[in-house]
Amino acid sequence: MARGTHRPTVAKVDLGAIKWNINQIRNHIRPGKKLLAVVKADGYGHGAVPIANAAKEAGVDGFCVAILDEAIELRQNGFTEDFLLVMGVTEVRDVALMADSNISVTVSSFEWLEAALPLLNLRKTMNPLRIHLAVDTGMGRIGLRTKEEVQAFEAFCEKYESLHLEGIFTHFATADGEDDIQVERQYETFKELVKSMTTRPDMVHLANSAMTLWHEDFETDATRVGIAMYGYNPSDLTIPLPYELKPAFTLETEISYVKQMHEGDTISYGARYKAYEGEWLATLPIGYADGWRRDLGNQTLLVDGHRCPVRGVVCMDQLMISLPHAYPIGTKVTLLGENNGEWNNPSEMAVELGTIGYEILCGISDRVPRIYNDSKGE
Ligand SMILES: Cc1ncc(COP(=O)(O)O)c(C=O)c1O
Repeated sequence: MARGTHRPTVAKVDLGAIKWNINQIRNHIRPGKKLLAVVKADGYGHGAVPIANAAKEAGVDGFCVAILDEAIELRQNGFTEDFLLVMGVTEVRDVALMADSNISVTVSSFEWLEAALPLLNLRKTMNPLRIHLAVDTGMGRIGLRTKEEVQAFEAFCEKYESLHLEGIFTHFATADGEDDIQVERQYETFKELVKSMTTRPDMVHLANSAMTLWHEDFETDATRVGIAMYGYNPSDLTIPLPYELKPAFTLETEISYVKQMHEGDTISYGARYKAYEGEWLATLPIGYADGWRRDLGNQTLLVDGHRCPVRGVVCMDQLMISLPHAYPIGTKVTLLGENNGEWNNPSEMAVELGTIGYEILCGISDRVPRIYNDSKGE
């Protein structure tokens, strides 16, 4: 993938905001509870390694990722000793590598564990496999579901020195919404499953950002925070934040072409938009190959504090906006973030598009270079 370093389309990531958000979250959770930074999917599009470095500076206790390669990326970039949990299902064949790399592994089935056991003989170190048992309390994704299964799993782990049951965790389906009944039900089920164990593992955890912000519990050992660390509301606009968070991501470009249209002149594929007489149009070097999806074509982008509607469909590499008057080539345009006091927040856009802010952030493609600054949270 060629990164676009010779065009002005960039994602600016404010590491100061990340650190500020971590401090905010830290100040609102129980003292002593571990704060784990979720940096999967390249740190929600912000860049996993720079985010992990900032998070470490702010004192997080470890990291969560979704796939093994993301864990290896951190290990190879200086995070050699840090707590590191892969939250998704991994391949049994990689079990020796995971033990040798001291990576904590989510296990969600007995079959996986049985198949992994003989392969652990291939490891080069004496490290036991650090296991976090996933239990499904209502998300319906991965995990054991009954006390009997959990007890059998625990008993199996106890028999082998190569297996260390370090943690047990679950994931909530509705913590970002208004369905508190489902949250309560999952919480109770989880407590029962943990209680059924002979020995409580060192790391019992259940909270993502939404649980951390709105349903803080006092009985678990760690919290796994993703979207809130990046400065966004996990519910988008449904529930107000209980405390301030600062968005860390700004997506900017510059006007690359400007012209004045005549009445009826058509814009973009399908010639669906027809200009009005004298309309000023700017072309921008960003399109759906950069993650600015075609259905973001009904959004307004920010120029000099003005909300400028996109005109015509978003092309693969370019799009057109309507200007209130002529602006010179090179004028800054903000797609996400702040411009002269106006804000484009992915959460607001997501609501209109029937998606979530996470998807807009993760969707900004690798063609867009990430540039880092540290505002010190100002
Ligand atoms: C198991 C698990 N825990 C924690 C998170 C972090 O979620 P959030 O970004 O909402 O904090 C995720 C993200 O999807 C997840 O899958």
